[in-house]
Amino acid sequence: MHTECFVVDKEHPDQGVLGQAAEFLKRGKLVAFPTETVYGLGANGLDEKAVADIYVAKGRPSDNPLILHISCIEELKRLVAHIPNNAKVLMNAYWPGPLTLVLRRSAIVPDIVTGGLETVGIRLPDSVVARELIALAGTPIAAPSANISGRPSPTSAQAVLVDLEGKIDAVVDAGNCEIGVESTVVDCTTPVPTLLRPGGITLEMLMETLGEVEMDPILSGSFELAPRSPGMKYTHYAPDAPMVLVEGEYPQVLELILKEVSAALAEGKRVGALVSLQTADKLPSGTIPFVYGMRENVEEIAANLYSALRSYDDHSVDVIFAEGISEDGLGLAVMNRLRKASGYRIIKG
Ligand code: TXA
Ligand code: MG
Repeated sequence: MHTECFVVDKEHPDQGVLGQAAEFLKRGKLVAFPTETVYGLGANGLDEKAVADIYVAKGRPSDNPLILHISCIEELKRLVAHIPNNAKVLMNAYWPGPLTLVLRRSAIVPDIVTGGLETVGIRLPDSVVARELIALAGTPIAAPSANISGRPSPTSAQAVLVDLEGKIDAVVDAGNCEIGVESTVVDCTTPVPTLLRPGGITLEMLMETLGEVEMDPILSGSFELAPRSPGMKYTHYAPDAPMVLVEGEYPQVLELILKEVSAALAEGKRVGALVSLQTADKLPSGTIPFVYGMRENVEEIAANLYSALRSYDDHSVDVIFAEGISEDGLGLAVMNRLRKASGYRIIKG
């Protein structure tokens, strides 16, 4: 299959070009597109056959439900059975934006979107390109991240093509995604809303808006528990080489990384290090470093995280040591992804 590439401006996308991509979606084809978080792999969310093709292209387990993306709040009504007050408060505060709400679904949402669940995840993205594309397609768009299942999510059209060229019909290229980690997923069907996946809208922001938020037990790292968000049970975001996450405060975390890296180098291993700028300067020679940004700048780290994880695709290493950061703000999402990428191989300083 040939994968068509539609290049558009991030703020002022050409309507003719976006219209061609929307035409693909209307005809049941797969189109990857940018959002403010990561690139999504889109299909008409009400077309069962098109949605089935998403699972095939990604190699995704079919019990892992998809998010429906909409272009304005009005489109929500026909997709859900009920909109609880908490959901209204969250929508008013954070839509459009990196927040997915899990709500009771209506009858028009196909089983294949929800993995058979009675709930559906809905998101109104902030990205102008995403919203205009969805509006032109005239239908909710089902879209998981546009990566092969288990790999880091793509934050550029190039990263989408590395995984999916020849497997999808088109990609809309509007450059890099600003946030770099996926949306926050909140289950609004529980009496107190439950955080299922940390993301672009931080826990602090949710607490500020709602007063109280439950945390799904899986977020505390107890990954053997039955997950309420089916996506959380799979290994995710992982680079090709095994990764070990080193957690702790500075300077203990630096000392621990230096110790582990030196020991692995002494064993003759090719060693990668996914670290802050501060730490990169101090690594022993022979280490293959990828820098995710300044330790203090969590926005920068989130924006660079997946491209840094993907940079090991081009370098064969035996092991990667990753530097953990504080869980404040967006740090909770970054650490959640690093823990999953490491398969929970964690050393604490
Ligand atoms: O930022 C994002 O959310 C990106 C962009 C493309 O919008 N999308 C994305 O989709 O990350 P995906 O499929 O990679 O992750 C969706 C997550 C999965 O963990 C899935 O299990 C969960 O949302 N999810 C979807 N529907 C759900 C539901 N009804 N109940 C519980 N969890 C749900
Ligand atoms: Mg994903």
